[in-house]
Amino acid sequence: MSVPDFPPRPAAMPANAGRQPLLDVQNLRTWFHTREGVVKAVDGVSLQLEQGEILGLVGESGSGKSITGFSLMRLVDEPGRMRARRLMFDGRDLLSLSAESYRQLRGRDMAMIFQDPMMTLNPTLRVDTQMVEALRAHGRYSRKAARERALRVLDMVGIPAPAERLRAYPHQLSGGMRQRIAIAIALLNAPKLIIADEPTTALDVTIQGQILYEVQKLCQELGTALIWITHDLAIVSGLADRLAVMYAGRIVETGATADIVGAAQHPYTHGLIASIPSIRTRGGDLFQIPGSTPSLMDLPAGCPFQARCHRASDQCLADPPLEEVAPGHWVRCWHKGLQP
Ligand SMILES: Nc1ncnc2c1ncn2[C@@H]1O[C@H](COP(=O)(O)OP(=O)(O)OP(=O)(O)O)[C@@H](O)[C@H]1O
Ligand SMILES: [Mg+2]
Repeated sequence: MSVPDFPPRPAAMPANAGRQPLLDVQNLRTWFHTREGVVKAVDGVSLQLEQGEILGLVGESGSGKSITGFSLMRLVDEPGRMRARRLMFDGRDLLSLSAESYRQLRGRDMAMIFQDPMMTLNPTLRVDTQMVEALRAHGRYSRKAARERALRVLDMVGIPAPAERLRAYPHQLSGGMRQRIAIAIALLNAPKLIIADEPTTALDVTIQGQILYEVQKLCQELGTALIWITHDLAIVSGLADRLAVMYAGRIVETGATADIVGAAQHPYTHGLIASIPSIRTRGGDLFQIPGSTPSLMDLPAGCPFQARCHRASDQCLADPPLEEVAPGHWVRCWHKGLQP
């Protein structure tokens, strides 16, 4: 019997080629209504993704990156409530999708890789059982075909001796292996979109690099779009086509990776770039953005970065609009400019 393969997909479309994007999110808001108050974890995020495109979603801890990812997967629990003006994926309106249809969509058309692989893996089941089940839940695979497909995907993410790994329980594998298997499970059904939430931060730098390289190659080969969530701008800038910089639940700057890394205009992005260790700063003190991320419960009016920003003025007491400073490069700041 032949092994079912990844369905063929046309190569990635260039941005704005006159078609609908694969993912179109407008004004996404996910607020947690707690007893202490409302936490505006995601507060008006808009983003678009073409087929096969890689977007890096970057920001400090607590900026709302994970909740953005969870919201797109509709994995936000009470007291979280999600709203959006528009949420289109692959020509479907996700806002009107039933919980059951969403469940079908997850794992088949869009998949998430979590920071902790044990969010994906079941500790009590062997890897093969989990992979075969993940395939059979979404497609008409015989057990034998599902097993062959699992082997192939394990091989794709660079797992040596995949047949042996299939027989293992998660606790018998190293952290790097577990993470690769979680990535393999996300890839199993060849989804159109993968949301990866810091899946390599716990791994050592060499393995991180390997996994990033493999995921990037796979996305190119399969036309899979990817949202790579991280606090590490240095890592993601080698991977992503575009970057979106998030601060206090909003995207404050977004554009092609080269435009952000080479011509950032938001003081927060300047701070993130200056905090990247480089050969020049080796041995010296690393720049740190002063202060810390604000509580998302009682944000002051206006720009949420004002308290930490060396350019802040009275104007920042009003909300700055997101403005396009060059084609596809958007900045939300009253005092935007190239100079840090
Ligand atoms: N269940 C919840 N109830 C209340 N607040 C929550 C809940 N889940 C998340 N938050 C808040 O939402 C905000 C954004 O959290 P999120 O996990 O998206 O941050 P993040 O950017 O992914 O940070 P990190 O880099 O640390 O993973 C945080 O202030 C967090 O405290
Ligand atoms: Mg997170």
